Amino acid sequence: MSTRTPLTVGVGVLGYAGVARAHFNALRKLPYIFPDPPVRLHLVGIAGRSPAGADGAARRYGFDYGTTDWRRLVEDPQIQLFINCSPNDTHAEPSLAAAELGKHLLCEKPLARDAREAKRMWDGVRRRRIVHQVSYNYRFVPAVRFAREMIQAGELGEIIHFRTQYTDESLSDPSTPHTWRQEKRRAGSGAVGDIASHVLDLGRFLIGELKQVSGMSRIVTPRRPAKAGSRTMKVVDVEDLYVGALEFADRGMGTLEVSMFCPGRKNFLTFEVNGTQGSLCFNLERLNELEVYRPEPKGRRDRGFKTVLVTDRDHPYGGRWWPTGHIIGWEHTFVHQLHHLIRAIAGEETVRPLAADFQDGYINTVLCDALVEAARTGRRVNVK
Ligand SMILES: NC(=O)c1ccc[n+]([C@@H]2O[C@H](COP(=O)([O-])OP(=O)(O)OC[C@H]3O[C@@H](n4cnc5c(N)ncnc54)[C@H](O)[C@@H]3O)[C@@H](O)[C@H]2O)c1
Repeated sequence: MSTRTPLTVGVGVLGYAGVARAHFNALRKLPYIFPDPPVRLHLVGIAGRSPAGADGAARRYGFDYGTTDWRRLVEDPQIQLFINCSPNDTHAEPSLAAAELGKHLLCEKPLARDAREAKRMWDGVRRRRIVHQVSYNYRFVPAVRFAREMIQAGELGEIIHFRTQYTDESLSDPSTPHTWRQEKRRAGSGAVGDIASHVLDLGRFLIGELKQVSGMSRIVTPRRPAKAGSRTMKVVDVEDLYVGALEFADRGMGTLEVSMFCPGRKNFLTFEVNGTQGSLCFNLERLNELEVYRPEPKGRRDRGFKTVLVTDRDHPYGGRWWPTGHIIGWEHTFVHQLHHLIRAIAGEETVRPLAADFQDGYINTVLCDALVEAARTGRRVNVK
């Protein structure tokens, strides 16, 4: 049994709908799945737009209080970790205010609406003695981590091609109402910041930095109902479909397709990495699996990709959850990233390179801006 006394860290969460629920689940689950945590979490407060919603979420998820004022969380001396799960236009101000008061940060992606705003956030945290992490949770899928380990060990040889798609059907129906995600002022960009940002982050995580991008985008449905069933229409001023090409700094080229107009696709995040000595293929809708291809001896006719179930004890996070072969899901990635964060708060780990910090969040917005610029001008854009 450990003799150390864990630090107690008070937690405040901005947002209670949408992705915040995955963070609440992680906060509740962490202590019973990771024994002997270096940090004990005290769930202090939740902020959201509606008083009833914030109070209800606080009761449901075991927090002390709910509030409609995020400043109350930021200023509460009981809170040392601020988790920002609000829309993109409320990432900067509350996170910077929390950083100024010395709070550790976990901010949802994209870090900000554009690179200028993200740079302000990176500048606001870099010289402070706080831990800052961006919620690029797909880095914490065991199969993704395994892919990175194989690539870094040189098992695929030289990387030639990173091919990625992130598509769903969420906007296929033109009567689906307008939200903050369709508004440049609030979201920054559309499919680029919302979903391309995830696969751009994976591209950097797996392959390395990018030096140039190009691409085309489209707004498929330029107006949407203001609310469900409403006849009032609101303008959509951000792209919902993007097709791009990527050039990595050291090795390899990439292709990227992101769209919310793919009927039948649910949360179809895939990548394939082709190297001189083999290939890897991942599909989030089958997240426990990694397809691996290595050239086989001549004469074998059963050559081809093989599917590895990434749940063995010697795989990333193997044995943390259930026995071998007992699969895990999307929500587990949030538990893994929270565990990484609290280890960093306790000084047992650094956020980089396995998680994304605010510098990675900033670089990601530079890439998103470059994609938007490339589509606007029809030119290749160098990543500065
Ligand atoms: N990591 C992931 O896989 C993932 C998945 C979904 C969303 N996200 C990101 O999470 C963020 C939120 O997305 P969502 O889908 O959960 O959004 P959402 O619209 O479903 O929820 C936003 C929440 O923020 C609260 N909120 C908004 N403005 C506020 C304000 N001024 N004061 C207090 N509360 C406020 C709302 O009450 C709501 O609870 C976005 O940045 C999005 O890109 C990440």
